[in-house]
Amino acid sequence: MARIIVVTSGKGGVGKTTSSAAISTGLAQRGKKTVVIDFDIGLRNLDLIMGCERRVVYDFVNVINGEATLNQALIKDKRVENLFILPASQTRDKDALTKEGVEKIINKLQEMDFDYIICDSPAGIETGALMALYFADEAIVTTNPEVSSVRDSDRILGILASKSRRAEQSLEPVKEHLLLTRYAPGRVNRGDMLSVEDVQEILAIPLLGVIPESQAVLRASNSGEPVIFDQTSDAGQAYLDTVARLLGEKRDFRFLQEEKKGFFNRLFGG
Ligand SMILES: Nc1ncnc2c1ncn2[C@@H]1O[C@H](COP(=O)(O)OP(=O)(O)OP(=O)(O)O)[C@@H](O)[C@H]1O
Ligand SMILES: [Mg+2]
Repeated sequence: MARIIVVTSGKGGVGKTTSSAAISTGLAQRGKKTVVIDFDIGLRNLDLIMGCERRVVYDFVNVINGEATLNQALIKDKRVENLFILPASQTRDKDALTKEGVEKIINKLQEMDFDYIICDSPAGIETGALMALYFADEAIVTTNPEVSSVRDSDRILGILASKSRRAEQSLEPVKEHLLLTRYAPGRVNRGDMLSVEDVQEILAIPLLGVIPESQAVLRASNSGEPVIFDQTSDAGQAYLDTVARLLGEKRDFRFLQEEKKGFFNRLFGG
């Protein structure tokens, strides 16, 4: 059975799509057959970040409505074996997603022997976000080190515990992971942002990864190359560690301290 993982947050713009792209690419690089689904109906960002926007013909909603088969809509990544993208539609109304429709697709993906189904959730707690988390076995709760983001993540934890299929059917609860993104140690030290410890204390769920605030992320999304391909970058390395932990490996947390920039680093903007 595939592990179904939702990347969720409540608050918008915290790095869910960036993380979904990086983590699914990383899992495929590690030999896991992975599909990443864009649940953000109407916005459709994931295909841009994954660099396959020109290859989108059919989407998630077309498959739900029986206008295309899953095989027609799935886009196979050209860089990594075992990686597939199911894009969202750009125009349709948000009610296009139904539990039955999503379930049908998840069941078909299960039949195709995927190891991982990654669900990139839209922001908020409306239908799209609820559909993205409903079937999840695990949740990567993506949070920025600031009060409003932590509060929304806490809210999402409540929803996972009450409105997921696992909650409804009294199964083992959705396994929760904290992914702290856009972490800027310098700003933490100056007291402008919450620290890893602060966030962990409030949310009280296991820490999966800490992704530093990094220019490499913008560069990556502009070029349609998930940042995990940029293994010279801090963010790319932090996502590699995150994927390893998801696979059960132990990795030390890096990039938690402010980097003391030496002369050459300053000079070359390292
Ligand atoms: N580690 C990071 N360092 C710097 N910028 C980042 C980082 N992670 C994400 N960003 C930037 O933050 C913005 C939002 O990222 P992203 O689209 O991944 O968030 P999202 O949670 O999916 O947003 P939405 O809720 O709208 O779907 C983007 O401009 C992205 O480049
Ligand atoms: Mg997004």
